[in-house]
Amino acid sequence: MAKHDIDPNYLDPNYEPVVNHSENLPFHQVLSARMQRRAVMKGTVGAALASVMGLGLVACGGDSDSDEDTTSGNTQTPGTTERTLGFQAIPVSTANEVVVPSGYSAEAFLPWGTPITGSYPDYRPDGTNTGADQEQQVGMHHDGMHFFPLDQKSGGSSSEEGLLVMNHEYINQSAIHPNGATVNTDGSRPADEVRKEIAAHGVSVVHIKRDSNGVWDVVQSAYNRRVTGGTAMDIRGPLRGYEKLVTPYSLDATATRGTLNNCSMGPTPWGTYLTAEENWHGYFAFDTDVAERPREYARHGVGGSSRYDWEKADSGLDQYRRFDVTPTVDGSATTDYRNEANTFGYMVEIDPFSPESKPQKRTALGRFGHEGVIFAPAKEGEPVVCYSGDDSRFEYIYKFVSSKPYYAATAGGYLLDEGTLYVARFNEDGSGEWLALDLDNPAFASKVNAAKGTTVGDVAFDGFENQADVLLNTRLAADIAGATPMDRPEWGAVDPNTGEVYFTLTNNTKRTEDQVNASNPVAQNKNGHIIRWQEAGNDYTADSFDWDIFVFAGEQGTETVVDGDAVVTLNDDNIFNSPDGLWFDYNGRLWIQTDGYSDETFGNQMMLAANPETREIKRFFVGPQGCEVTGVVTTPDSKTMFVNIQHPRGNWPNAAEDRPRDACVIVTRNDGGVIGA
Ligand code: FEO
Ligand code: CA
Ligand code: CA
Ligand code: CA
Repeated sequence: MAKHDIDPNYLDPNYEPVVNHSENLPFHQVLSARMQRRAVMKGTVGAALASVMGLGLVACGGDSDSDEDTTSGNTQTPGTTERTLGFQAIPVSTANEVVVPSGYSAEAFLPWGTPITGSYPDYRPDGTNTGADQEQQVGMHHDGMHFFPLDQKSGGSSSEEGLLVMNHEYINQSAIHPNGATVNTDGSRPADEVRKEIAAHGVSVVHIKRDSNGVWDVVQSAYNRRVTGGTAMDIRGPLRGYEKLVTPYSLDATATRGTLNNCSMGPTPWGTYLTAEENWHGYFAFDTDVAERPREYARHGVGGSSRYDWEKADSGLDQYRRFDVTPTVDGSATTDYRNEANTFGYMVEIDPFSPESKPQKRTALGRFGHEGVIFAPAKEGEPVVCYSGDDSRFEYIYKFVSSKPYYAATAGGYLLDEGTLYVARFNEDGSGEWLALDLDNPAFASKVNAAKGTTVGDVAFDGFENQADVLLNTRLAADIAGATPMDRPEWGAVDPNTGEVYFTLTNNTKRTEDQVNASNPVAQNKNGHIIRWQEAGNDYTADSFDWDIFVFAGEQGTETVVDGDAVVTLNDDNIFNSPDGLWFDYNGRLWIQTDGYSDETFGNQMMLAANPETREIKRFFVGPQGCEVTGVVTTPDSKTMFVNIQHPRGNWPNAAEDRPRDACVIVTRNDGGVIGA
């Protein structure tokens, strides 16, 4: 797409191109889906709502008597009393400030540009910090985040001191430079602007400590670190050494530079941080007049010009030229960067407790638009299991199961290098299956064989060279496996009480009436919904599951109807659209963050808390104008909450400055109590 559509003031969250043209759900299946679905959305107000429901949807709302109701299947609820929502819900807000319930306080923390390492260069409010400064300061567009207690490695759970690790998804070019992005008369860009933009991406590791007055501050510490779009990284797992990842930088395809568009994340059971590469495709230029795109680019949206023109940096340095991935006429993979974009699209492991460690791209988890990752609770002697959504319209939800068992004493990133990647198929009757994307799996191998010589989506499919090729083309493999195209899977979360896995499906206005299915039952789904499932036998390694829809987002009166009963009816206390961030706190409350449209009905983007058992939902937090609310974690005692504000507008959080700064917000209860209780 044209870059002017993306930045500097691009706030539409729906900027992922639709690149899945496979048709995994024939129309005859759709009809039966409508007859067997258990959870449906209903609404009592609004013509717009009526138009997205469609008559067929309403007519069969209660027609599901024969289905087992798994929604009341939470047979044990040890944390039930801890999940109650004790605060007063707040109304929607359009103010350019953070709003929290009565009895709570909110304070901005670690805004973009905060010095955290090196010579701790001061933030300059006029935008004149250099690229080198930015490499030592907090990046832009804060997203996923986790708090690691400083004593975690020794078994502690400090709520006073820790490493706050956060992603920086992308940038606001008009805010980052004194006068926006500069283009030289010859079309090139000043190299230091490019350096600064690359440095504002990636991840920040910040050692923070709470003083005796309860105020959090940055500790000048050897742990503090910036990982950027230029940091040296290793390729690990099945794609390490694969010829399609060979670049002039790494002739043996074992390394690359940088992580980009880091959206959500997942803390691992062994105390490291996995950061996701989401809309990485947009950073690369590929001139389709010069060459035809390989499938590993076309299916992922790489093509055309790049978002920020980094490849045009006027220094001509290799570290910038690499963002042009067009094959040169006389060159090869060892002389040009035709393969550079194959080194992106992964989950990247960072050990915050080892500041010198090289980040590791864990390719066994697949290559796609990773929103984030969520680990199931690790069990001694059993495989490690994690889930990751591909946030584009009509893309999929994946599960990774390690080959090797987890042992707390020896666990590490190696567990993520060997295993099986599965993709989810949500059946119309409320069951689901995990489909292995593994050439050694007979069912997958036979589908691959059957697809050879056909067109899959837009791809003329001639097979996979090997398992590395399958993972490089994860989306294509999932198409062939018969996965269910979803309404933009964003964050996942695992209920600590029941083991149920929740995923936000943020929205998908491109889904037509002909494309609805039971798990994505709303055409022109502009408000999104939250789906959940329970693995068969409560075993995270199972190859089947039962699913239902937790809630449909929307305006007042939107009902989530299960077997004829409205289990949720949204009202002034909890209307929301476009659920994105999702997190279970340590007491089992579910936190829902939004990244959608702001209008008179919904106001600014927000965060709500939910009791997963009762489906009570209350608005807890509203962000400033123009932002999305994304990234949430608390200290282990649940008394300090960190919430990120991304792409605010105007001059939030500092009214004395004239440009916006993405920032974390610290939320505390004035009486020092547990957040949400
Ligand atoms: Fe970066 Fe899908 O949100
Ligand atoms: Ca975002
Ligand atoms: Ca997101
Ligand atoms: Ca989003």
